[in-house]
Amino acid sequence: SPIHAAWLPEDATTALATAVHVSGTGPLVATVSDEARAATRLHGGHLEPDPTAARLLLLTLDLARALAGEPAVARALEALDDDGPSCPERYAIARDGDRTAVVGEDDHGLLHGTFALLRHRGEEDVVVRRPAHRSRMLDHWDNMVSHPVMGTVERGYAGDSLFFADGDVRADLGRVAGYARLLASIGVNRVAVNNVNVHRAETELLGPRLADVARIADVLRRWGIRLHLSVSFASPIVLGGLSTADPLAEEVARWWTEAAGRVYAAVPDFGGFVVKADSEGQPGPFAYGRDHADGANVLARALAPHGGVVHWRAFVYDHRQDWRDRSTDRARAASDHFAPLDGRFEPDVVLQVKHGPIDFQVREPVSPVLAAVPATTVAVELQLTQEYTGQQRHVCYLGPAWSEVLTFGLAERGTRPVHELVAGGVVGVANVGTDEFWTGHPLAQANLFAFGALAWDPTADPDAVLREWAAATFGPDDEDVVDTVCAMMTDSWATYESYTAPLGVGFMVRPGHHYGPDVDGYEYTPWGTYHFADRDGIGVDRTRATGTGFTGQYPSPWRERYEDLASCPDELLLFFHHVPWTHRLHSGRTVVQHVYDTHLAGVERVEELVRQWAGLEGRVEADLFARVQERLAEQRRSAQEWCDQLCTYVWRHSGVPDEHGRPIHP
Ligand code: GCU
Repeated sequence: SPIHAAWLPEDATTALATAVHVSGTGPLVATVSDEARAATRLHGGHLEPDPTAARLLLLTLDLARALAGEPAVARALEALDDDGPSCPERYAIARDGDRTAVVGEDDHGLLHGTFALLRHRGEEDVVVRRPAHRSRMLDHWDNMVSHPVMGTVERGYAGDSLFFADGDVRADLGRVAGYARLLASIGVNRVAVNNVNVHRAETELLGPRLADVARIADVLRRWGIRLHLSVSFASPIVLGGLSTADPLAEEVARWWTEAAGRVYAAVPDFGGFVVKADSEGQPGPFAYGRDHADGANVLARALAPHGGVVHWRAFVYDHRQDWRDRSTDRARAASDHFAPLDGRFEPDVVLQVKHGPIDFQVREPVSPVLAAVPATTVAVELQLTQEYTGQQRHVCYLGPAWSEVLTFGLAERGTRPVHELVAGGVVGVANVGTDEFWTGHPLAQANLFAFGALAWDPTADPDAVLREWAAATFGPDDEDVVDTVCAMMTDSWATYESYTAPLGVGFMVRPGHHYGPDVDGYEYTPWGTYHFADRDGIGVDRTRATGTGFTGQYPSPWRERYEDLASCPDELLLFFHHVPWTHRLHSGRTVVQHVYDTHLAGVERVEELVRQWAGLEGRVEADLFARVQERLAEQRRSAQEWCDQLCTYVWRHSGVPDEHGRPIHP
């Protein structure tokens, strides 16, 4: 079946259906020309060699200066000047009468500006945009060899890998080209193509398979995207035949330098390495008595001369913990490992920090690591793939969650938001695959779109982003459909939270695949993911006074606010405190009553979603309608299952019935 065009259906390109003049410098100008040519051919416009005869001018800055006599161009130039210091990838769009000019600071800016023109559909007169972050990256957890349970994409819920099949890079990269175009349209400019868990086959990407890597890079490059590889820290042994991967051994440093040289010979604009070391069984510097600065630096020194960076992941913790040991706290691990290393990393190391201290749960506090290493370049890692948020079977628009993280005032007494702390940019774990709708659940495309939008502008309103996506995807002409889709999705993260793990407790999922409820599934395991429920209460005491001391990793005012029951926000209560079942929340409800009320309301809300969607039958593409309908039925079933298990669990452990006497415990 045909591939769904996501938010770039053919009729979205009508803004280019006129006399279009394209000129500028840089390789992406050819891409912009191709885009314009395709659209003009489709809609009856044409490419116009004479700029004075054109209605739409697509220019890079240097060429625009030569055409400053053209009023629309002059307005765009003026807007750029007013906007302040120049910035790569920036663009301006300006109109004057029936003429429009898009001026990019460089060819990347021109590409972004061209897609922005398609999105803005002529609403504003002058627009200038610059990216908040230079690096806006997606990490694919794709494997070359299919795993019996997970397929080719670890935690992938959208079919197979776009890049790999049957142990090889795909011969036909047509889907990759379509994907890269989508990414370019939302400003993503870096992609790591393989899983952070690097198995034997993918180790070879850095060696014998470099020519295939180069083929992928060639496709991405046309859309302004640099390719990165996840590499095994043990590559010098596995691939190089050395007897050690000790980062301080000279032959190891030499091996990495030579490996980097080979990569850049094949991929001149290679972005760099992503490394998961000493984490969940991946090799790392600890085996040699070295620390993570030693490990990251040897790789950074190899890449730096070529302009590459190392994304070194801070997701390091003990996954073989003794659950009986109440003093070890997985939430502390990243700060405990990395804060002492601050100042020791090479400039080309980017410390990649998951947004929360544990692991992409539906609700976590912001990771304190983001403020704990001021002398280190950090990037924040978000998870588009909905591992813990419904696995692309449930509707869960994550824009509001990410917006909360990015705008959270973590540093300088609450005044400095996360987006100002992440000079290394924003990274997301991708949610796409070979699925005809790209993302399994068609509405999960909104998460890909929102990632791009928020990585570019972290202060953007996630509701406005949602509306922009919905209008682009479902057509601006059917306001009703757009309204309904937005109404269904705006609070879908809150809805998901309401019927799953309550009050920030997390990890009440089935072990292994992480779908569906299993309240005690992880309770007596080595993974460090506990809730400590008993007949008296529930929650993890992470206070300094009586618990693991995790609250002490936060700067003020958060260290005090989270420490004190009186000021800890309800939604994070059980993340920071162990409380009696009848503890009263700020909302006025007890913990028990909160679970009953939110779970029952959550199921009702999902029933409403089913009805809302049913009303769109015949108004959206039939295949898409059917796919969403089928997913909503599963969401309805699963929400009920969550509700029944959570409510029953709480009832059986607490013995406290529902205040309203509802039959909530089977
Ligand atoms: C989670 C996820 C793993 C993944 C890991 C990571 O634990 O379940 O599949 O490898 O995160 O981010 O490295």
